[in-house]
Amino acid sequence: MLDVAKSPPAAMALRPSEYTAALIQVLRRRPECVRGAKVLEMGCGSGVVLAALGAMGAASLSGIDIEGEAVASGRSLLRELGHDAELFHGDMWQPVAGCRFDLIVANLPHFPMEHIEVAGRLPTWSSGGADGREFLDPFIEGLADHFTAKARAVLTHNAFVDIERSRRLAARHGLGLTILASVLVHIAAEKLALMTPSVLLAEEGKSIHRYGPHVFADFHIVEISPLGTQD
Ligand SMILES: C[S@@+](CC[C@H](N)C(=O)[O-])C[C@H]1O[C@@H](n2cnc3c(N)ncnc32)[C@H](O)[C@@H]1O
Repeated sequence: MLDVAKSPPAAMALRPSEYTAALIQVLRRRPECVRGAKVLEMGCGSGVVLAALGAMGAASLSGIDIEGEAVASGRSLLRELGHDAELFHGDMWQPVAGCRFDLIVANLPHFPMEHIEVAGRLPTWSSGGADGREFLDPFIEGLADHFTAKARAVLTHNAFVDIERSRRLAARHGLGLTILASVLVHIAAEKLALMTPSVLLAEEGKSIHRYGPHVFADFHIVEISPLGTQD
């Protein structure tokens, strides 16, 4: 059995976050979207989201990650759990050009900060560049080309990286955005210190909440699907 506490540092760097937990929770509440679906996870990391989707009866599991260690670790987890998955080592949509999926999930790096290692994670884990949107934008822009007719994407979305901008971007590609759930997450002082100052200034008191030394932020689990197919 995989024991993360006794595993090498790569497994610790890939430990699932509160964002991943919330994503899995929302997906577990929507079994009808998962059962029999051809699934892709963008930025599959540890592979745990794919493992959850495999356990829920997805028809096929594919994943992409820019980190070779993540791909190796995800393959090993999924094999150990008896899931037949295809994991690609690559950048964003490039490994699945021309492929379409029924369900695309993602917990992308989209914290507004430069590419710096934080809390024992790889620099590619959280950083979404100065405005946090370096991966979010191309992800949303590529969805329509990778959707089957009745597909949807379910992703984590920090409230402080402008959800209305994501909505407008999705609409330009004929897609609608719906918030499925909202969660409050603690932001460690070490991570907050790295946040792009203009984002912190603009969002404190809105989506970022400070109580003395303790800081929390809102994030959402959103669904993006072809306009007119929203529940
Ligand atoms: C916040 S982590 C989420 C991982 C996964 N959901 C989990 O809980 O293990 C983001 C993942 O995106 C990957 N990533 C970063 N940039 C990427 C890119 N350009 N293309 C594909 N994956 C990328 C990172 O390596 C990391 O594994």
